[in-house]
Amino acid sequence: MAPSRATPRQRHPALSQEEAEQKRAAARAAAEMIEDGMRVGLGTGSTVAHLLPAIAERDCRGLLCVATSPATEQAALALGLAVAALDDVGELDIAIDGADQIDPDGWLIKGGGGAHTREKIVAASARRFVVIASASKAVPRLQPPVPVELLRFGLEHTLRALEPAARRDAPLSPDGGVIADHDGPISDPRALSQRLSSTPGVVEHGLFAPELVSVILIAGPGGVQRRAGAKRAD
Ligand code: 5RP
Repeated sequence: MAPSRATPRQRHPALSQEEAEQKRAAARAAAEMIEDGMRVGLGTGSTVAHLLPAIAERDCRGLLCVATSPATEQAALALGLAVAALDDVGELDIAIDGADQIDPDGWLIKGGGGAHTREKIVAASARRFVVIASASKAVPRLQPPVPVELLRFGLEHTLRALEPAARRDAPLSPDGGVIADHDGPISDPRALSQRLSSTPGVVEHGLFAPELVSVILIAGPGGVQRRAGAKRAD
């Protein structure tokens, strides 16, 4: 089992002021897409932490939110947003979330916060999935690691099948799955996505295909750039 490389979050524990401002700008641009009565999926992470007050400030009537982590749920409730379980809400109008890496074809790596299983379910349940990020998240090529959530049963077998892979120090997802990082090369994201999905014991991995994504909002020094994703609302 190889040691896991540090995630971007671990490499840069203290966000620079500029990056925080970019995350806030992307979050505010996404909040503009929220309208009265929408059912809204809320992601997890520091970019989403800027999104929640921006949504609350819009003061839309009849919003109903679904959270992808206990941290997001608590923060949303503290701001007065209504939060319900996904199965009680049905199809979402929109879901908004951050990303660890975004490649030029629209592939994402998510799961720096270990919430990627819930995040992928929520993204897939939404008519539109909007990704918000600072400019540093846009990369020419995805780099390992890819977060994975694993079943506890047979964990050592699963980790061997995924080599090189390592468990994280903060080990469990909100649903009791083991969070690990696959540290192998990502020469073909689709092939790796299929390989990870077809490995027994993998609950979900953090590669998000372009077909899941409607819009990517990337904030840089020159403002917020909007990239169209491959997902089309019906
Ligand atoms: C959590 C995620 C986050 O969206 C991703 O890690 C980005 O985090 P941040 O907005 O803090 O940079 O996938 O599982």
